[in-house]
Amino acid sequence: MSNQPWKWSDRLSLQHAEIDATHQEFVSLCAALSHDDGLDFIQKLDALIAHTLTHFEQENQWMRETHFPPAGCHQTEHETVLQLMQEVRLRVIDGELDLGQRLAEELPHWFEHHVDTMDNMLARHLLNVASVSA
Ligand SMILES: [Fe+2]
Ligand SMILES: [Fe+2]
Repeated sequence: MSNQPWKWSDRLSLQHAEIDATHQEFVSLCAALSHDDGLDFIQKLDALIAHTLTHFEQENQWMRETHFPPAGCHQTEHETVLQLMQEVRLRVIDGELDLGQRLAEELPHWFEHHVDTMDNMLARHLLNVASVSA
């Protein structure tokens, strides 16, 4: 990844309007963690965590409703990342500020991989289910 600020690009689009809109929001909230904008890091992380809770729950709900075969694996990855965000939040509050920066640097890599694999499979599955039931 370059030194340019991370931002949404069509390369991340999964051709599913709701997922793409949610992912654009994730990218902008996550990128904000690295912006030296004078805003409090914890406030920005809290906004990202709040978004991520609803983002992941929406995907988990779609997986339950449509009996998505790899749902367990996908949901476990969601839980792991949310726990990591919560853990880093507590440790930053305890003074480990560098961990917050590590999180801000690593999350884009994790997210791009997650979109390419798990969310991509889910989007294809949801589009198939919608076309069968249409
Ligand atoms: Fe997602
Ligand atoms: Fe996901």
